[in-house]
Amino acid sequence: MAFLHGTFLPLFLHICLLSWSAWAKVKVTMHENVEVYLGDSAQIPCQYSFTDANSEPSFVMIQWFVRAAGNSSRMRIFYGDDSQQVVDNNTEYSGRIEVTSDQHGTQLNIQEVRLSDEREFFCQVNGLAAGNAEGKTHLRVFAPPEAPVIEGVLTGISVTREGLSKVASCEAQNGFPKPNITWYRNSIPLMPTPGLVNVLTLVTWDSREFYSVQSTLEYKVAKEDKDAHFSCEVSYFVPGAIRTVESNSINITVYYPTTMVELWKESPQGLVKEGDTVELRCQGDGNPPPTFIFSREQEQDVHLDSSGDVLILTQVSRKDSGIYQCRPQDTDSFTEVKGEMQLTVHYLDPVVVVPKDSEVMLKGEDLTATCNALSSLKTSTVWYKDGRQVGTGNMLHLQDATYETTGEYKCEVTVPSLPTLHTSGSVHIIVQGGPQLVGVDQEVQLEEAAGRMVNLSCEAQGYPLPSISWNIIGSQNWHEVVSRANEHMTHSVVSVKVTSDISAQCNASNDMGTEFKAFSIKAIPRVTTTAPFSPAEGSGVIIVVIILCLLLLAILGSVLYFLHKKGKIPCGRSGKQEISTKEKTTKDDIVVEMKTNTKNEEAVLLKAVNGEKKGPNDQ
Ligand SMILES: *[C@@H]1O[C@H](CO)[C@@H](O)[C@H](O)[C@H]1NC(C)=O
Ligand SMILES: *[C@@H]1O[C@H](CO)[C@@H](O)[C@H](O)[C@H]1NC(C)=O
Ligand SMILES: *[C@@H]1O[C@H](CO)[C@@H](O)[C@H](O)[C@H]1NC(C)=O
Ligand SMILES: *[C@@H]1O[C@H](CO)[C@@H](O)[C@H](O)[C@H]1NC(C)=O
Repeated sequence: MAFLHGTFLPLFLHICLLSWSAWAKVKVTMHENVEVYLGDSAQIPCQYSFTDANSEPSFVMIQWFVRAAGNSSRMRIFYGDDSQQVVDNNTEYSGRIEVTSDQHGTQLNIQEVRLSDEREFFCQVNGLAAGNAEGKTHLRVFAPPEAPVIEGVLTGISVTREGLSKVASCEAQNGFPKPNITWYRNSIPLMPTPGLVNVLTLVTWDSREFYSVQSTLEYKVAKEDKDAHFSCEVSYFVPGAIRTVESNSINITVYYPTTMVELWKESPQGLVKEGDTVELRCQGDGNPPPTFIFSREQEQDVHLDSSGDVLILTQVSRKDSGIYQCRPQDTDSFTEVKGEMQLTVHYLDPVVVVPKDSEVMLKGEDLTATCNALSSLKTSTVWYKDGRQVGTGNMLHLQDATYETTGEYKCEVTVPSLPTLHTSGSVHIIVQGGPQLVGVDQEVQLEEAAGRMVNLSCEAQGYPLPSISWNIIGSQNWHEVVSRANEHMTHSVVSVKVTSDISAQCNASNDMGTEFKAFSIKAIPRVTTTAPFSPAEGSGVIIVVIILCLLLLAILGSVLYFLHKKGKIPCGRSGKQEISTKEKTTKDDIVVEMKTNTKNEEAVLLKAVNGEKKGPNDQ
């Protein structure tokens, strides 16, 4: 304000008059635009100068005007000269502006800029004789909009729909000036393209003069869009720049028809056998997933009971083998799409064994048994007898049958590729023939002290089961102590009292024949020192004893002589040996036992003589 100071006034007027005479001119310089955020304070400078620096006028009058948008009339908001500074009353700027000045210019300060301040401000300088001039500045006010809000369409959009579909809408509120909205698909801008992309924009300008922009994206949806992300971006002006803010991205649900269907077996894993529960699953590439119709190839009109995309077949049998199909229920496309698969149900029938149940064969005969089970897969057969493996393959050859051949033959049929499938059957083989006595080849010869008991044993095989009878000559005192029979064997033991030499026979017989086994027992008279004898017999006995003693003495003498000549071995040693041999055998009776051992058909004789006479292996 110094230039308006009173002390300079005489000089100022003087210059003014000089200027007047020199046609002094005033020049005003202002910015074209001043940009400011809403609510901030704005400074609008106004520079002025006089063409002839020496003719500056002594009196300068400054006035500020505004012009409302779309209205040509101007309104003064400020007046100033060297004597007064006046903000006009009753304007929208009363109390909100202030003007500062110096020699070269003046500046309008506006506080708390409003959107309505977006208008032209005029600065008019009047230097009386120096003339007058004015300039203008357009004050531009900026209000950034709120972040954009995007909303995708929640319902599914079908690709088969004709024309464009609304995909999403986006709104940017309360901005100034009007913001723009741009759409993006996977971060690539979507430009309006006929038949593909269309953008509808709705701009509202509310009472407070903010702009809100709402944009709707219309788009030709394709199947690939199921994975696409859409977003919108708002761009707006700020003082000196353009800013952008991007929305969240959204995805959309795209409906597309099924073009491919697949059918497969979900369970069980691997091969299917009869009795299994089978689960077939159908899947297509359409969205939303359609419901499927299941059928068999040979009866396509018969819809099988299924739940959703799964067909469950319980307790399958070989009849369920075949080709299965599934197709979408409501195909709106004309091309038939279907899934197909072959189901094979494997089976293993019960075995058929020939001969059936049981078979009688004659000793020495041959027989071939077969075991067959029908199966859809390769089988393997193993034969067992008494838990031992006796053959493989579906045929079992039994050659030159013996009684050992008799028994239960079990065949087990398995399916190597499906181990849970197996079955078995059996045949009972009976070998028929005459009796066969164990140890029949040798006659059994025994010696036994008179008065003792001897057990004679006889075991006979044969079919039908032989019966055993005994024929004993030389003893009346005998009885059967064991009489046993099982399905293969008859066993009889008789206990015989040895009174004199005995000849015994066991007779095993059945319908097919008879076989004998002979025993002969030599009775050994008992000799005991305490045995009483009659005097009549005594003399004879004494003579015999004397002769024997003489003989023994002679032998002993010759032996002693012989040893003496040799000059060795003291006498008595051999006698000792004899005693120990005697001590070893202390059993009273003889037991004859025939073992049924197949390897050793010889009778094993366990016998012991009562102390005086025999070694254990004598027979
Ligand atoms: C908005 O779009 C118009 C027309 O394309 C353009 O002239 C203007 O500069 C854009 N505004 C912003 C903030 O990008
Ligand atoms: C959108 O994408 C998310 C994650 O990528 C997904 O979980 C969601 O299901 C999708 N929504 C639609 C409608 O496709
Ligand atoms: C053996 O027994 C059978 C049948 O009991 C009989 O027919 C046969 O005569 C007997 N043989 C002898 C030698 O006892
Ligand atoms: C003969 O056999 C019977 C019955 O097995 C038995 O009790 C008896 O002791 C046997 N006798 C001899 C001498 O082995």
